[in-house]
Amino acid sequence: MKKSIILLLFILTMFSCYNDNEEELYGPVSCDVSAITYTADVSPIIDAYCVSCHTSGGTAPGDFTNFSELKAKVDNGTFENRVLIQKNMPPNSQLSNCDLEILQAWLDNGALNN
Ligand code: HEC
Repeated sequence: MKKSIILLLFILTMFSCYNDNEEELYGPVSCDVSAITYTADVSPIIDAYCVSCHTSGGTAPGDFTNFSELKAKVDNGTFENRVLIQKNMPPNSQLSNCDLEILQAWLDNGALNN
């Protein structure tokens, strides 16, 4: 009897491992950066995490609702430096790894307005 309880506990312990989910173990499973565009992928990130400050009349330099003002920060290197290297933009929250990969891929592809 005692043995079977111990065996049962052992089996339960084994099955509890199945609670591990793939996302926690291996990170986000679907971060596809093979065909990103500014409109579909980058702009939503900028809108969600940047334009609260980087807007016309805002507290931060540049109006990032305006592509050319955002692109100016890409071209002078400050975008990559602050967002991808120092990672201190946005200052009040943190971008997910997938968002960072999308922004990196966008830069690598020439930061197109597509
Ligand atoms: C809470 C407000 C706030 C948010 C949100 C924010 N920023 Fe900023 N950002 C600032 C302020 C204020 C400065 C100027 C002071 C400084 O350089 O730290 C700045 C500076 C920068 C600079 C340097 C500009 C220059 O001319 O030197 C870049 C690039 C930048 N932010 C990009 C971003 C990006 C991209 C996001 C979104 C992913 C973002 N920021 C989100 C407030 C913000």
